[in-house]
Amino acid sequence: MIALKTERELEIVAENARLLREILVELAAGVEPGVTTGELDRLAERWIRAAGAAPAFKGYQGYPATLCISLNEEIVHGIPSDRRVIKEGDLVSLDLGLRRAGYYADAAVTVVAGKISPEARALMEATLSALRAAIAAIKIGAHVSDLSYAIESTAQRFGFYPVREFVGHGIGRALHEDPQIPNFGPPGFGPILREGMVLCPEPMIKGDPLPVRILPDGWTAVTGGGSLAAHFEEMVAVTPEGPWVLTDWIGEEIWAKRN
Ligand code: CO
Repeated sequence: MIALKTERELEIVAENARLLREILVELAAGVEPGVTTGELDRLAERWIRAAGAAPAFKGYQGYPATLCISLNEEIVHGIPSDRRVIKEGDLVSLDLGLRRAGYYADAAVTVVAGKISPEARALMEATLSALRAAIAAIKIGAHVSDLSYAIESTAQRFGFYPVREFVGHGIGRALHEDPQIPNFGPPGFGPILREGMVLCPEPMIKGDPLPVRILPDGWTAVTGGGSLAAHFEEMVAVTPEGPWVLTDWIGEEIWAKRN
C-alpha cells in the first residue's frame, strides 16, 4: 500500500523538505579538511532541534547519531565520531533526516573536501546524472522500476556500478514507506506512480561491482573493492505537472557552488 498525500499533507512535507534543505546546505558548507564528523553531527542535531524538529535517524533501528557521514569507500550509514577528521580530497556523503509535525524529510548529498580528483569528479557527475534521470522518469503512470533502470543505465554509461544492496523509498508519516526503489533493474515493473506519492530516489554509485560489506560497527557500508562511492537523494512529489522536487535540487546547487 502506497500512501497518497493530500494537498494539506504535501504542504507539511514540502515545508519539512525546505527546512532539511536549509540545514543540509549549511552542513555541506562546513565540510573542509580538519573538521571532524562528530562536530558536523552535533551541528545537525542542534539546528534540527532549534527549528522545532527532531532527528529522524537517531534511535532508528538503534542508529546512534543524527547524521550519516560516509567517507570515500564508505557508501552509507557512516557513524560520526570526534576521532574522525576529514582530510584534503576526502569524498564526504552527508545523509540527514528529520521529523516535524508528524512527517519525515530525508535527503543526501556528497561533497569533496578541498581539491577534487578527476576520478572523484567523474563519479560525482555520474551520480548526479543518475538522480537527474530518475527524477525525469517520475510521472503519473510510470512504473517504479523506470527510476531503477534510469539509475542503473546512467551509472553504466559513465563506467560505474549502482549499489544493489540499498534502495530508495517512499516517505511521509514514516521515514521509509512503500515503494522500495532499487538502484538497478529493467524498466516497466513495480507499482504505478500516482498523484500524491512522495518518493526518495537515492542513487549510490561506485567504482567496483563487488558486493557491499558492512564494517564491524554494524552500520557502515563500504564498497567490496575499496573503490569510491557517491550518494545523492532528493524528495520528489508526483504531480499532474510532473516531478515536484521538494528538496529543490539541493545536490545540483551544492555541486554548482563548489565546482
Ligand atoms: Co532515504
